[in-house]
Amino acid sequence: MEKTFLMVKPDGVQRGLIGDIVSRFEKKGFQLAGAKLMSVSSELAEQHYGEHKERPFFGELVDFITSGPVFAMVWQGENVISTARGMMGATNPKDAATGTIRGDFGLTVGKNIIHGSDSPESAVREIGLFFKEEELVEYSKLM
Ligand code: CMP
Repeated sequence: MEKTFLMVKPDGVQRGLIGDIVSRFEKKGFQLAGAKLMSVSSELAEQHYGEHKERPFFGELVDFITSGPVFAMVWQGENVISTARGMMGATNPKDAATGTIRGDFGLTVGKNIIHGSDSPESAVREIGLFFKEEELVEYSKLM
């Protein structure tokens, strides 16, 4: 079953959006395989955002993601990686369609509410960075 890593960023947690965001993915029909409220260390942030290391906003990105608790999640289901990206909306909330998470709740690219893996490779990598195998659950195959 395809899995993805999604994370409500510090702005989303602080603004009380965890419930709404979880509800959207539940109602869509995806299954929550793991979740935790946690602080992100600088080391974890630098690993997670490693591909952006050379970007001018890298320092800002690390400072922001370590600035308060995040809600880290693993979701599973058919085509969950690309469908979740669609439900999140464009990276920059100003370009995100109404009805998407960033379109409905975000204003700026730095504080864009939620992160989601962009490929099967990054999903495996990001799930491995944030979760131990035993923190993920299995659902009955009958459901
Ligand atoms: P995310 O999906 O978490 O992956 C990388 C993040 O970099 C992205 O969301 C944005 O929040 C952030 N980002 C992209 N461009 C900029 C920018 N120009 N300034 C600040 N942050 C940015």
